[in-house]
Amino acid sequence: MRKVLVVFAHAAPQRSRVNRRLRDAARGVPGVELVDLYESYPDFYIDVAAEQENLADAAALVLLHPIQWYGMPSLLKEWVDAVLTPGWAYGAGATALAGKRFWLAASTGSPAEAYAPDAAHGHPFAAFLPPYRQIAALCGMEWLAPHILHGAHHASEETLDAHIDTFVARLGALTSA
Ligand SMILES: Cc1cc2nc3c(=O)[nH]c(=O)nc-3n(C[C@H](O)[C@H](O)[C@H](O)COP(=O)(O)O)c2cc1C
Repeated sequence: MRKVLVVFAHAAPQRSRVNRRLRDAARGVPGVELVDLYESYPDFYIDVAAEQENLADAAALVLLHPIQWYGMPSLLKEWVDAVLTPGWAYGAGATALAGKRFWLAASTGSPAEAYAPDAAHGHPFAAFLPPYRQIAALCGMEWLAPHILHGAHHASEETLDAHIDTFVARLGALTSA
């Protein structure tokens, strides 16, 4: 079985409807190790050596979070800034992450229709993904199609259950792929 590292970031999980359930479901998947960033690092002081060691022997990196201002929550950005160092994650001679898979699992408050040229967010949702894609590319990681739930606040229980089931199934596949 291959290790899959899920890096979870939610600043207020007690108010979460979607990501908290995804986090809890991920914790139950054999082979998955989950880091809850806001729980582990409430002071934003990330243990870089520990995080790099944890990531080094994973076959896949999964980022799990709500979309905030078209991107990742600030502590996850801090994790990326601090952990994916030059010479280790990317750059000359860096191979630590090469060949690992990169999977984004995220939710938006707005419905899918709000992500269009003539709607509130002005662009299709995919237009906000290049920074994630390029982080993966620069580190030599394999990009997997993201798992996105739009309209998180109003998604039906059935939609939510199906979203979680798919997430769990794909996580399980990553541990055996
Ligand atoms: C600071 C902040 C910024 C947000 N920015 C966006 C955004 O850019 N686009 C969007 O669709 N939703 C945005 N949202 C809504 C969240 O994505 C939404 O609440 C979340 O996906 C719901 O997941 P949860 O139930 O796990 O909290 C934002 C929420 C917060 C708190």
